[in-house]
Amino acid sequence: MVRLSRRDALRSIGLGGMSLAIAATGCGTDEGESEMEETETPAGPQTYALPPLAYKSLEPVIDDATLALHHDKHHAGYVKGANAAVEALQQARAAGDYQLIKNHERALAFHGSGHALHTLYWTSMWPAGRGQPSAEMKAAVEDSFGSAEKMLAQFAAATKAVEASGWGVLAWEPLGKRLVVLQAERHQDLTLWGCVPLMVCDVWEHAYYLKYQNRRAEYVDAWAKIIDWDSVNRRFAAAVA
Ligand SMILES: [Fe+2]
Repeated sequence: MVRLSRRDALRSIGLGGMSLAIAATGCGTDEGESEMEETETPAGPQTYALPPLAYKSLEPVIDDATLALHHDKHHAGYVKGANAAVEALQQARAAGDYQLIKNHERALAFHGSGHALHTLYWTSMWPAGRGQPSAEMKAAVEDSFGSAEKMLAQFAAATKAVEASGWGVLAWEPLGKRLVVLQAERHQDLTLWGCVPLMVCDVWEHAYYLKYQNRRAEYVDAWAKIIDWDSVNRRFAAAVA
């Protein structure tokens, strides 16, 4: 089994206008990372794999049925789709037949970004929340937004206002050296190239509809109570290193 070192797991890999910290065989949580061996990743592309959850429940903010369906069915579907897109492109190259290249590239962007964002989503949350912004993160938040309260207010407003299905994203924008809040429609649209996502909130209806029905704003407000700042801080430290 291929294992990633902590450094590799935290290192960002560009995809679909964002970057992601994907462990091919585990998610970037404390538990997931502690299980990872400090070995270098062998060179060469890796098959995408569904990372295990590091917790059993996020009740009462996210109900257990939604958590199970979301992870085991929806996220698993994006993993399968991303691997299928990679395989289709491999076959197209082998055959020298690019008639369906547009479909394959769209599938890679959609499913690959879906896998990336869901991997970040599970590690943006912790039961009842965890930690606080680090001193470095707090300073960057204040430089970029004025205060933590203003950042969270913008994040919540942007997330609630995503058109149709998508995501709220807090990201590090390396060219301007600032934190930014982005909206992602579907998974791959409305990105800012080069950004490193640090914290993401899924507002596809499958993320909240069983418990909250059409009350997306209620879900987003409750979601702020389960942010895993320890993971967000680690991603920030890796992004600015
Ligand atoms: Fe989702």
